[in-house]
Amino acid sequence: PLRKLAERTKTKVRIGTAVDMSALADDATYRETVAKEFNSVTAENVMKWEVVQPERGVYDFTAADALMKTARANGQEVRGHTLVWHSQLPAWVNEGDFSKEELRSILRDHITTVVKRYKGKIYQWDVANEIFNEDGTWRESVWYKTLGPGYVEDALRWTHAIDPKAKLFLNDYNVEGVNAKSDAYYELIKKLRAKGVPVHGFGAQGHLSLEYDLPHDMTENFLRFDRLGVETAVTEADVRMRVPAETIELNAQSQGYHTMLQACLLTPKCTSFTVWGFTDKYSWIPDWFEGEGAALLLDEQYNPKPAYKAVQQDL
Ligand code: XIL
Repeated sequence: PLRKLAERTKTKVRIGTAVDMSALADDATYRETVAKEFNSVTAENVMKWEVVQPERGVYDFTAADALMKTARANGQEVRGHTLVWHSQLPAWVNEGDFSKEELRSILRDHITTVVKRYKGKIYQWDVANEIFNEDGTWRESVWYKTLGPGYVEDALRWTHAIDPKAKLFLNDYNVEGVNAKSDAYYELIKKLRAKGVPVHGFGAQGHLSLEYDLPHDMTENFLRFDRLGVETAVTEADVRMRVPAETIELNAQSQGYHTMLQACLLTPKCTSFTVWGFTDKYSWIPDWFEGEGAALLLDEQYNPKPAYKAVQQDL
């Protein structure tokens, strides 16, 4: 199993998966595979704002608690995902039209409440998710528009004040290689660290597609964050393709996983490698990218694909 292999790597990288709570409840094979293969888990959805605080001041931790319980039973660590994001926000936040002061206190209340609940039990928090555009400018989220760029620093400080042991990450997609977007993270993290703001990690989601070439400079990118003194992680790896898949696609996919895991294993402080699901039976790709799928390590019948073998070999 992957988790056994990961424990023996020189960097002791955690091998994780996103967990789909309905699959976990309904499918015994899914449950057994989560337990057997992974030593880290991320909530695919249930720690997001719309689930945790659907109405103002009304928190619902039922599903998130269930994940924590499963993780504990399986001897797994938990990555928290995510505290500040523009997506999967309840309408009351997104369309609330709050003043700066009010929205800031709403954000602070949310972070404080969620982080307190799982204090000491989350090893890495994706504090802020997807804050930059492709060109490295700030994304015009409700947070940015109302609070300005200082919201990220606030979120990091509030999280750290409650749970000083958790490693605090900024996380995004299309930042595997060196480009304008990953440059923006590099500069921001450098600036924040110089100011003493608690930021400890940079996460590349790792949603690759066979329609684009693989990132060729991912190790170089991760190593520059290493030199800044922060951890790195691959947080949501999957490699999608047009379906149905043939041998050439499955082999190319295997190279995609290999590229990402290799960069992580060659980076001393790359501390976790998480896949965004592990069986093609349950994946967000077919719902979000028309005509695409087959993005994960196991097929719909839980048979290992070439990508699974590549991950095994690299570990
Ligand atoms: C996705 C989930 O997998 C889907 O189930 C949900 O409908 C939408 O969000 N980047 C992220 C993840 O940070 O939270 C997203 O997860 C995928 C893209």
